[in-house]
Formats: sequence, structure tokens, C-alpha cells
Amino acid sequence: MRIILYLGKGGVGKTTVSAATATAIARSGKKVLIMSTDVAHSLADALGVELTPKPIEVEKNLFAMEVNVLEEIRENWGELYSYFSSILMSDGANEVVAEELAIVPGMEEMISLRFIWKAAKSRNYDAIVVDAAPTGETMRLLGMPESYGWYSEKIGGWHSKAIGFAAPLLNRFMPKKNIFKLMPEVNEHMKELHGMLQDTSITTFRVVVNPENMVIKEALRVQTYLNLFGYKLDAVIINKILPQSSSDDYLNSLIALQQKYLKVIDNCFYPIPIFRASQVAHEVIKTDQLHDLSQEIFDGHNPSEVLYKDDKTQLLEKVDGKYVLRLHMPNVEITKLNVNIKGDELLVDINNFRKSIVLPNILVGRKTEGADFEKGHLNITFAN
Ligand SMILES: Nc1ncnc2c1ncn2[C@@H]1O[C@H](COP(=O)(O)OP(=O)(O)O)[C@@H](O)[C@H]1O
Ligand SMILES: [Mg+2]
Repeated sequence: MRIILYLGKGGVGKTTVSAATATAIARSGKKVLIMSTDVAHSLADALGVELTPKPIEVEKNLFAMEVNVLEEIRENWGELYSYFSSILMSDGANEVVAEELAIVPGMEEMISLRFIWKAAKSRNYDAIVVDAAPTGETMRLLGMPESYGWYSEKIGGWHSKAIGFAAPLLNRFMPKKNIFKLMPEVNEHMKELHGMLQDTSITTFRVVVNPENMVIKEALRVQTYLNLFGYKLDAVIINKILPQSSSDDYLNSLIALQQKYLKVIDNCFYPIPIFRASQVAHEVIKTDQLHDLSQEIFDGHNPSEVLYKDDKTQLLEKVDGKYVLRLHMPNVEITKLNVNIKGDELLVDINNFRKSIVLPNILVGRKTEGADFEKGHLNITFAN
């Protein structure tokens, strides 16, 4: 079984590319589920069908569902939710505010992750394609196995606090035994899912970009954090590429700008394979059009395969008490090398190309002490 997660900034085409990928996999004869965990429900629009939290078969082998987090909270997590809000109310928050606050940060993502876990455990599918919410929160949660434990701890903490202050009141709101039974179970599922997500033969992440400065920055951040957390990026999909030239001046200046950023993407994501899709002159909707788009993107490659199998592109290690960032750069002869830091970016000039890397927080503000290149790895040492 394969799990493929698409990440990237809002509007770049994650939903479209995810749906195109799923359609291609289904038409190759494999059973696939595409799941959207984004609250902006555009998967239904892309597929041109109504979707629910229960998978429906859109065409042969292609199943799709949209996770409605708020509905899920209302239906299945009501108990937990009223528990949180009752505690907040006992702390003095008014009812409306308490209800608002009771949606614990990260809870939405956790619920989405639990849906992925459920689908993976069902063993119903050869592949699961996830059209994830725009990067931030999803990444944070994926990155911290501890956060799965966060809920139990938090609840544990609040629970003892509640016992001290407002036990009689809370007992009315909260059949606590059920909650405490539920949390360890969820924790187990999250741990199991985390294992699957880190298994690079099962799960790979793909980032969708457009040839635009800010979009690329966000994609680089995605790459850095995926590397850091032990997840595998196996492809970059550049979407909405304009034609090579036009008779229109306005379009030509946009094209020139895109050409510049296409080079930046090539340099920055090397050696991750890059796939390309043109900006088409119509909306990409329904499976036939999505399938056409997938043909252009994957161009003979099998989208359900792991598309990059080599070493991780970045590795952060501690050597003799210092942080060393190891960049995997196979097949590069380095004749000229220059390393600079600008804000949260590391700019590596190698020969005639510049690679930029978004630094993980832990390295921001540090100076580099030196760089050396051995056996296809560029090692950059940071001062303490
Ligand atoms: N290659 C493309 N050519 C033309 N329009 C596209 C292309 N890819 C996506 N779109 C359109 O761009 C909009 C945003 O795409 P979407 O997949 O919803 O992005 P995201 O999920 O990243 O927010 C949609 O209207 C979609 O139809
Ligand atoms: Mg989307």
C-alpha cells in the first residue's frame, strides 16, 4: 500500500494535482482513495461530484471523500468537546467563548490524521492520496510525535485541576471514564500512523509549487521540515507553467519571470525529481481532464511509485557538539563554493548555480563555520 500526501501553499493546485494523481492511479487498475482534509472543500469541485466523509466511488477504482472536521467534532468528539468547554467555563470563560476555545489547536489536524489512519488500516486500497490543508498546522503536527501525547497530558493536567476546583460541576458535564478510555486509544492510532508516515516504502510527500517567489519559499520550508522530521519528499510538481513564448508583451514579461523561477526551482530542489504541468486555458475539472493533466505531469512515470529513492536531501546532525547540515548532492563537481546566510535562508552558491535552503528554527541566527564536500555530501558546520 502507498500513501501519497500533497503539500504546498494555498491556490497552487494541490487539490487538482492530487485528484489528477488519484485518477491516473485508478485508471492504471489500482484501487485508490483520495481524501481531502482541507476545510476549503474544493476536491468535490475538482472531481465534479458531491462528496461526504464516507468514500464514494467516482469511477472504477477511484474512491473519494472529504473530511468535514467540524461535523466530525460534533458527531464523534462531542463528549471531549463539551468536556473542554465545561472546563473553560469553570475557569470563567463565557459559554460562547468557551465553545470557540474548546476546539483545541491541532485537534482539526489530529482528526484528519485519524481519518488517514482509518483508511490505511482498512486495507481497502492500494493507494491513498491525501490533499492536505495548507502547510503550517499539518506540518507541525506531522513533525511532533510528542504532540500525539499532548492531548492525554493536557487532559490529564486539566483533569486534576478540575478535580481540585470543580469536580462536582464537571461530573455533571462529563462522563469522564469514556474520555479517558478514548485518549490512549487515539494515541495508539497516532503512533501507528506516525510509523506508517515515516516508512518511506509506504509514504511519500510531494510538494506542489508555481514558478513564483513566495510559493517557492514555502515549498522550501516544507522540504526542510519533512527532512527534519524523517519524512520523504519524492517529487516536486511545478504547476501552472505558461507557454514558452507569446505574441503578447504582457504575457511575455510574465513568461520571463516564470523562466527565472523555474531555474530557481531546479537548483533548489535538486536532486528531487521535478514534474511539470502547464497552465491550461480552462478549469481542470472531472476525471477525464484530470487524467490528461496527470499524463502531462508524470509523462510515462508511474505516479504510485516512490519517485525518489536516494538519500535524504538534508540531514541535520550534531558532530562534536556542533550542528552540521549535510546536503546530499550527487553528481556535482564542486569547483566554486560560497555559503551565506540571509535571515532564515542559507544560500549556497555552487559553481554557477545558487541553492537556497530554509533553515530550521534551531539554526536561525547562527553563523556558519565552514563547509566541506565529500562523497556527494556538502557538510556545513554551524557555530554554537
Ligand atoms: N494546471 C492548471 N491550469 C489551469 N488552472 C489550474 C491548474 N491547476 C489548478 N488550476 C486551478 O487553480 C485553482 C486552484 O487550484 P486548487 O487545486 O484548488 O489549488 P489548492 O488546492 O492548492 O488550493 C482552481 O480553480 C483550479 O481549477
Ligand atoms: Mg485545495
